[in-house]
Amino acid sequence: MAARINPEQIRRHFPELEQRVHGKPLCYLDNAATTLKPRVVIDRMSEFYLHEAANVHRGSHFLSDRATGIYEAARHTIAQFIGVKDADEIIFTRGTTEGVNLLAFSLGETLQAGDEIVLTQMEHHSNLVPWQLLAERRQLKLHYVPVNSHGELDLAAFKGMLSPRTKVVSFVHCSNALGTINPVKEIVAAARAVGALTILDAAQSISLMPIDVHDLGCDFLVYSGHKLFGPFGIGVLWGKKDLLNRLPPYQSGGSMIDRVRLDKTTFLSAPHRFEAGTPHVAGSIGLAKAIEFVSAIGLNEIFSHECELSELARQQLRAIDGVRLIGEAKSRGNIVSFLIAGAHPSDVGQILDQEGVAVRTGHHCTLPLMDLFGIPGTVRASFSIYNNEEDVRRLVAATRKAREFFI
Ligand code: ALA
Repeated sequence: MAARINPEQIRRHFPELEQRVHGKPLCYLDNAATTLKPRVVIDRMSEFYLHEAANVHRGSHFLSDRATGIYEAARHTIAQFIGVKDADEIIFTRGTTEGVNLLAFSLGETLQAGDEIVLTQMEHHSNLVPWQLLAERRQLKLHYVPVNSHGELDLAAFKGMLSPRTKVVSFVHCSNALGTINPVKEIVAAARAVGALTILDAAQSISLMPIDVHDLGCDFLVYSGHKLFGPFGIGVLWGKKDLLNRLPPYQSGGSMIDRVRLDKTTFLSAPHRFEAGTPHVAGSIGLAKAIEFVSAIGLNEIFSHECELSELARQQLRAIDGVRLIGEAKSRGNIVSFLIAGAHPSDVGQILDQEGVAVRTGHHCTLPLMDLFGIPGTVRASFSIYNNEEDVRRLVAATRKAREFFI
């Protein structure tokens, strides 16, 4: 049993929570869109820009060497966080979307017409559209694992889709729209049995639970720093080194080349092979600081806290006449999606906003999933480390108010 975390203590690290919205204290429940940033992350990035900023892997002067050291130390911290010993397996990206696009391009170059890729019906558009574009370009076949009415993957159907033609299985760890936590190890084992590579979209799970890529068994993992209390514009792609070094580069330019001649260029190994141009140095340093911050709290503790609050919210929302929860998977995380009968989600969101309660409404970039449920979107509350029972009470009270408005 994980120790309990104290959200009141944690809240003090987040200046953004101190403000009032529409005259009410901010109740921030849009953590699946982005988490707020603790002061230590902001301070660390300011320190870099104030005193340490220089370009990395380029200069022959003190500032550049020091910035390079800090940047590569950040890569180590980020590697260790997901159980990776060799920091060269960590590629900095702009976020989950760029990580998937990189893989869709570079892995895509290794695929042949007729090869197959398996995705799921619950993917975010960022793990769907890049594969569709690739499939069109290279005459590949896409399969989508069906989702049942509880919001769970149909694993029997998944296994039936696999064959020696399956080259890639790319899927989400925790659904950003429903909160479903998918059985990664089972999916990876089945994919591996037919020789397919697996990509895990950890955009939502990275801040929710401990992740060890070797324990999960996937070949690649992608996430965004801004959903892990870090800055915007920095993300991570992890991949096994031998796989990464067999892939062609995604973007090209400075810092990723071994030798450029006018007739031919050769490339460096990972990570530099995939990091063309000047990187987001401050972003990587800020992300490493965010990782130190959450690691000190403890990921097991975070998981218990966020799931407890989400379950409390589910229980109380379910009890409101006219409220329908969307996605009731057995294994679920810190996301609660719901609808009020007769009300459009965005209208509900506006009423909640007037009460100081920040949620996301809409299709959450998962249109095929919304089509499956036959709905335009949902109201989505997502919990984080600084949320408390008072936030649940305010969400439920504001939802009751909205319900009364739409009766
Ligand atoms: N993908 C993010 C969300 O689910 C932005 O809100």
